[in-house]
Amino acid sequence: MKKIAVISTKGGVGKTTTSFNVGHGLSLNGKRVIMLDCDPQNNLAEIYDIESDEGVNALLLGKRAAMSEVRRNLFVIPSGGRRLLECEWELVKRKDREKQLSRALEDLSNCDYVILDCSSSLNLININALLFADLAIIPVAMDYFSISGLKQTFELIREVCQQTNHQLHLMGILATQFDLRTRISREIYSVLCKLFPREMFKTVIHQNTKLKESPAFGKSIYEYDITSSGARDYIKLTAEILTYEK
Ligand SMILES: Nc1ncnc2c1ncn2[C@@H]1O[C@H](COP(=O)(O)OP(=O)(O)OP(=O)(O)O)[C@@H](O)[C@H]1O
Ligand SMILES: [Mg+2]
Repeated sequence: MKKIAVISTKGGVGKTTTSFNVGHGLSLNGKRVIMLDCDPQNNLAEIYDIESDEGVNALLLGKRAAMSEVRRNLFVIPSGGRRLLECEWELVKRKDREKQLSRALEDLSNCDYVILDCSSSLNLININALLFADLAIIPVAMDYFSISGLKQTFELIREVCQQTNHQLHLMGILATQFDLRTRISREIYSVLCKLFPREMFKTVIHQNTKLKESPAFGKSIYEYDITSSGARDYIKLTAEILTYEK
């Protein structure tokens, strides 16, 4: 079982878009996938119209969570929305507060991939997600602040892992919202490739309006428009993830 945190301290870089399109992509390849919405915004659960507020919030407090099978072999645990934020107050009082998610899911089996769609906050929920995960994907949008956002994300991961002696491998840095027509995209991408030649995913996710539209219809990009460049990019990324060996 591979447990992948899709994380960045920068907002709007494509964490949720990547989580659910990779999650669905893996399930279409016959893998059993559980997606955890670790963001109080609850975007991932919203896509599939899941309304339960017993989700990751419940797991963090040692209770049972609702899990919905949204497609064949594809399951979603919602975040709990506002309750996830509230549960952080409860969590800080507890011993071993960083390991509650790992504890709640320690018996999880019969699953090939767990995808954790994280928020961009530096909070206890993300620390729980990082300590449960064994791999991280860091999406980076092609804009001016992306390099500093990436640095911050690395620092967060390093600090959490050092303090807790946890091993988390970087699966890859993912260039997202790439627009070949703009100089900024080309420049940022080239800087990233120079700085992180081995860490960059070979796949680049291009800017594609279909990726923006598909969640409104409750569909992944493969269901919404399989001929789009967004579908092509996420199929390629899914293949790269399927062949990933640490
Ligand atoms: N490759 C893309 N092309 C076009 N639009 C995209 C692409 N990737 C993401 N978007 C859009 O950009 C916005 C932010 O994407 P998304 O919600 O996936 O980011 P996020 O990192 O999860 O954000 P947050 O930090 O708020 O959770 C959304 O409207 C999404 O549809
Ligand atoms: Mg998100």
